Amino acid sequence: MQERHGFKSTFGFLMAAVGSAVGLGNIWGFPHKMGSNGGFAFLLVYVILAALCGFVVMVSELSLGRRTGKGAIETYQILSRKFKWLGWLATLSPFLILSFYCALGGYCLKYMVLNFGNLINAGFGTNGLSGDAVFKTFMLNQTEGVVFGLIFVLLTALIVMGGIRGGIEKFCSVGMPALFIMLVIIIIRSCTLPGAVEGLKFMFVPNLQPLKENFLSVLATAGGQMFFSLSLGMGVMITYGSYLDKKKNIHKNAMIILVCDTIVALMAGLAVLPAAFALDPEGKTSGPSLLFVTLQNVFDNMGTVGAVFGIVFYLLVILAAITSSISLLEVIVTHFCDKAAAKGKGDKRKVYSIIAAAAVSVLCILVCLDGMGYSGYWVPGRVLVDGVWQYTATYNDCWLDFFDMLSEGIMMPLGALLMCIMIGYELGPDVIRDEIESHEGHKMHSYGFYKLCVRFITPLLMLLVLGGQIRDFFI
Ligand code: PHE
Repeated sequence: MQERHGFKSTFGFLMAAVGSAVGLGNIWGFPHKMGSNGGFAFLLVYVILAALCGFVVMVSELSLGRRTGKGAIETYQILSRKFKWLGWLATLSPFLILSFYCALGGYCLKYMVLNFGNLINAGFGTNGLSGDAVFKTFMLNQTEGVVFGLIFVLLTALIVMGGIRGGIEKFCSVGMPALFIMLVIIIIRSCTLPGAVEGLKFMFVPNLQPLKENFLSVLATAGGQMFFSLSLGMGVMITYGSYLDKKKNIHKNAMIILVCDTIVALMAGLAVLPAAFALDPEGKTSGPSLLFVTLQNVFDNMGTVGAVFGIVFYLLVILAAITSSISLLEVIVTHFCDKAAAKGKGDKRKVYSIIAAAAVSVLCILVCLDGMGYSGYWVPGRVLVDGVWQYTATYNDCWLDFFDMLSEGIMMPLGALLMCIMIGYELGPDVIRDEIESHEGHKMHSYGFYKLCVRFITPLLMLLVLGGQIRDFFI
């Protein structure tokens, strides 16, 4: 049978796993959510949830994957009788997430090119238009949106084709340290702008009001953010775990991934919010509008150096996004590669990477054509006024948000909830301890805590998160 090459070094694995965790969620989600949900108080809720849910789910997923040495679908089929089908849910989520993740990655590519245009005074720069106008024009240009989205899918597929060791590990081992350096450069610039302090205040000053007013909503926001940001509740960590050898310490590495992801989220806040508050105080500070409208205004307002910072910043975001999108595509590719290998078909990775990327492209094209609702492929946002289609869509009613809600809002917490029930009540928590301690010298010191969490605390919190997310979407 074909040999299954896993991660070569612990560093390589960590860069890949942290790379998966650090992504768009850290850059546009965390800083704003922290700011508008209580500042330091939100951070506290987030850290508690990360410890009680994130850590538990992360350790579990890595262990389950390593135990079977197979992708998500097979892992559940091998281990469980009642939850055999759960792997399919864990493989469907990556499809949905990739559809909008690649679209957004493509937008970042476009913005890098745009800033390059500004640098050399070329016609493909912003041409003096405001951030808002640039973004709208781009969203209405469906061909351009689709082309950039597909370039991003292609880049993702090319790395995945190289395999775990030759593609993902290699790319992340260089890409993640580079991302870190760029982040530090942007933080220094952002925090030294006059007026930057307002952004810091927005993010960090404790404000207990949101917690008092609607604790459930804060909890759901923090929980949803944590799942998405740590790449949990779907096949990613199971898949990466399946490429780990017994010498790697899952318990310790899970903690490192968690801490690194949270630190980068805070750093991302230091990079974007002070600059946004200093140079575009009226601008929105969350979601796509932060990334593509407010920050572009910020770079335009910086003068000539703005274009350089723009290029560095969007490159940083592209790196963050691509190290996440490869982990998502790998979930799908691993499943098919394992299947082919079991049937003695040899190494089919390249073919499967292309097929999976083609399937993802279909959904990605839909999201790009929709242009965040501006081009109106979301029917409820489209109204006929005097025989002409008018688009009333805002950021809240488009395909991107719909796929996001399905995956991040429902499928990920649900997947993680059911996995905890499977471990807690069907398999027994000692499966995880046995796997972690299967190498001499590795101890699961937190076993008592883990057992309590996986059976009671984590599922309960996840139910609350799930309920809160569903409620928030429909309100
Ligand atoms: N963790 C990534 C982010 O924060 C997104 C992601 C989710 C990646 C799920 C893989 C799996 O942007």
